[in-house]
Amino acid sequence: MKNLDSKSHVRGESIYLDDIPLIQETLYACVYDSTVAHGKLKNVDVSEAEKAKGVVKIITAKDLIGENQIGGILPDEPLFADEEVHFQGMPIALVLAETEEQARSAAKKIKTEIELLEIVTDPRVAFAKNDLIVPPKHFKLGDADKAFKTCAYVFEGRADINGQEHLYIETQGAYAVPTEQGGMRVYSSTQGPTAVQRCVSRVTALPMHQIEVDVTRLGGGFGGKEDQANAWAALCAVGTQLTKRPVKYALHRMEDMRMTGKRHPYSADYKIGLNKDLKIAAYEVVFYQNAGASADLSPPVLERTLFHCTNAYFIPNVTATAHSCRTNLPPNTAFRGFGGPQGMFVIESAIAHAAEALNVSASEIQRKNLIGDGDEFPYGQIAESEAITTWTQADAKFDFAKLQKKADEFNAENKFFKKGVALMPICFGISFTKTPMNQARSLVHVYTDGSVAVSTGAVEMGQGVNTKIAQVAARIFSLPIERIKIHTTNTLRIANTSPTAASAAADLNGHATQIACETILQRLKDVAKDLVEAQSADDVSIENGFVFRKGESTDLDWLTLVNECHMQRVSLSEHAHYATQGIHFDWSTAKGHPFAYHVYGTAVVGATVDCLRGIYTVDFVKACHDFGSSMNTSVDYGQIEGGIVQGIGWLTMEEVVYDESGRLRSNALSTYKIPDIYSVPKTIEFIPLETTRESLAIFNSKAVGEPPLMYGIGAYFAIRNAVRAFNSENSPAFDAPFTPERVLMNLYSETVKKMKV
Ligand code: MTE
Ligand code: MOS
Repeated sequence: MKNLDSKSHVRGESIYLDDIPLIQETLYACVYDSTVAHGKLKNVDVSEAEKAKGVVKIITAKDLIGENQIGGILPDEPLFADEEVHFQGMPIALVLAETEEQARSAAKKIKTEIELLEIVTDPRVAFAKNDLIVPPKHFKLGDADKAFKTCAYVFEGRADINGQEHLYIETQGAYAVPTEQGGMRVYSSTQGPTAVQRCVSRVTALPMHQIEVDVTRLGGGFGGKEDQANAWAALCAVGTQLTKRPVKYALHRMEDMRMTGKRHPYSADYKIGLNKDLKIAAYEVVFYQNAGASADLSPPVLERTLFHCTNAYFIPNVTATAHSCRTNLPPNTAFRGFGGPQGMFVIESAIAHAAEALNVSASEIQRKNLIGDGDEFPYGQIAESEAITTWTQADAKFDFAKLQKKADEFNAENKFFKKGVALMPICFGISFTKTPMNQARSLVHVYTDGSVAVSTGAVEMGQGVNTKIAQVAARIFSLPIERIKIHTTNTLRIANTSPTAASAAADLNGHATQIACETILQRLKDVAKDLVEAQSADDVSIENGFVFRKGESTDLDWLTLVNECHMQRVSLSEHAHYATQGIHFDWSTAKGHPFAYHVYGTAVVGATVDCLRGIYTVDFVKACHDFGSSMNTSVDYGQIEGGIVQGIGWLTMEEVVYDESGRLRSNALSTYKIPDIYSVPKTIEFIPLETTRESLAIFNSKAVGEPPLMYGIGAYFAIRNAVRAFNSENSPAFDAPFTPERVLMNLYSETVKKMKV
C-alpha cells in the first residue's frame, strides 16, 4: 500500500506550515543574527530599524517575560544572545513587521558592537582547552589493554568525518496565533510538539496548558527538527505574547543553513588488535565530537556513537571514550542515525586499515568478526543477531566473490577507470537510549457513521508513519484504510509526547494505537455477543465490516454495531498508553539492555572512479535487510532507497565548510552539493532477511527510518578501494567525505609519482 499522502503530495495539496491560511493582522518575523562567532555583545542599536516602514516591534533578550533559555538537556542556550555571542547565526534580535519584506529589510538596519573573543572550530582544540559540554562517557568490555599485549597485529590511526546539512525541503518555521485568556496556538514544523510546548512555556512563562502545539506534517526533518524547531516557535510565541497578534516566521534557505546546526563532525583515534586468525581481540577508540556552541542534543548523540562503536561486530575487549567538545559553531544536532553512523565509520576505517596492512580483503576481517547470537555488546545487551544471516543471504543472492572478480577483471583491462567493491554490515539499536522516552499515547474515536479518527504523538515527515498507524487501526478493526483518518499531532489531544525520532515512532505510537483499538474492539464484541446470541465475546469476531460468530458470518454489520454501542451508552473512544517493556540502562555502570531490538543488514557496494578526473559513480548497493516482517513494503523500500542515497551523499559529496572565523562557506545549494537523481546508484537492490524471529516491533515490522543510511558508508570504502586499485601505494587518510577533489588528490598523491602511469 502506498503512503497515504502520495496523492496530495503530487497534486500539491498537502499542507505544510507555509500553507496554513493566515489570520488577519498576522505579523512577519525576521531574526537579526550574529555575524561574529564569539564575542562580547557590547551594544545592540535598533533605532534605525525601528523607524523602518512597517516595523511594529523589535524584541531582544531584555523584553522576554519568561526565561531567556531554550536548552532542553542543559540550560546553556539563550534564545537571544545577551552578554555574549557564541556562533555566527546566533539570534540577537527579532523584527516584527507588517510584511515579510519589511521585516527582512529592517533587520539589515540593526547594528551591533561586538568585542571579539577567541574562536574555536576544531573539537580537538576545544578538548585541549577542556571545554566539554558534559563529562566524558565511557564503555568498557573485557580488558583491552591486556588483550593488545597478546595480539599478533596492532594498528593505530585516526579517522575524521564531517557533518551534514539536513536540507529538509521545508525549511524551519512556526506560526503563533493568540487564543483567548492569554493562551496561544503554535503551528510548528517540529518533530517534537511537546518539546516546542515546553520551550514556549519557558520563554513566555505561560503554563503548558495555555499552549497548544499543532503539526500537520513536515517536509522532512531528518533529526534537524527534533530540537532545533524550538527556537523559531519560541521566537514567534514571544512575538505573539508581546504584540497580541499572530506571528509567522518561515526561514529562507540561507538563513536556515546559516543559523541551524547539522550532523556532528567527529574526529577519532582508534587502535585495533587482531589475532593471527584475523579475529579482532581488542579495540580502543576515543571520539571527539564537534558539539557546536551549546549542548542541544549532543550528549545523547555522543552516547549513541558509543552504542554503535563496534557496529555489527563482536569484540571481546573494548575501551571506548567519547568527548563532547564545545566550539563556536551553531549547535550540532540529531541527524538520521544520531551519532551511530559516525561510530560505525571509525570501526570500518580501523578494519580497512588492518586489512590494507595485512594485505587481506577487509571483507575477510568483517566476516570473521560479525556478532553472533548470544554475544555481548560493549553495553551489556546480549545480541539476538542476524548479522551472519544477512551476510550469508546477501552473499548467496549477490555473490560477493563474483562481484569482486568482475571488478578485478575490469581493473586489469582499464587504465583510467577503476572499480572498487566494499561490504557494509550494519547493526542499529531501536529505542531511545534514554529509557523513559520509550512511551507513547494514542487517541481513537469511532464515530457513529462508522469512520475512525486517530491521533497520536507521531509526526509525519515523509517517512510514512501515519500510513503505518492507519494500517494498525484498519487491521484491528478489519476496516478498509479509507475508513481511518490520522489527524494532526496536537498537544491538546496527545500530551507529553516523545519526539518522532530514533526510528521508533511507528513502534511506539503504533502499539498505543493497537491497544486503543483493541480496547474499543473488545467493547464492540461485548455488545455484539448478545446481538448475535453468542455464548461469549470470545466467540465473536469482526471481519471486513461484518460480525462473525464462531467463524460464521452473521447479518450484523459494523455500522449497526457501532450505533448499537452508542445507544447502549458504551464508549466508542479510547486513549491508550504504551511503554516498551524490558528495556533499561544504567549509566553508572554503562551496562543494561537499552534496545527493544536491533536491525541488521549487509550491503555490498560497488563504485567506479574516473582516474583522470577524480569523479565517480556508485554503481550498485545490494543488500539483505532485516525488515522483520514488513507491514508496508512500499513505505519501507522508500526509506531504504532514501536512506542509502542520503548516506552516500554524506560520505561522498556533501561538504559542510566553516572557515576559521566560524563562517559557514557552504551556505547555499550553489556551494553545498547534495545527491541528485544522477548520483543515485544505477542499481539499488535488496532482499528481505528470511527469519521468523519475533521482536517488539509493531506487527513484527522492524523500524526502518535510520538504519539504511549506514549502507552509504560502504560507498566510501568502495571508492577507496577503487582509488587503491589505481594507486596501490597510497593509503588515503580516513577523512570523509570522499569528494571528487579528495579522490583526485589521492589518485595522484606523492607516492603515485613513483608509479609508471
Ligand atoms: N524519511 C523522510 N522521508 N523524511 C524524514 O525526515 N527522518 C528520518 C527517518 N526517515 C525522515 C525519514 C529520521 S532521522 C528518523 S529518526 C525516522 O525517519 C523517524 O521516523 P520513524 O520513527 O517513523 O521511523
Ligand atoms: Mo532521527 S536523527 O532520530 O530524528
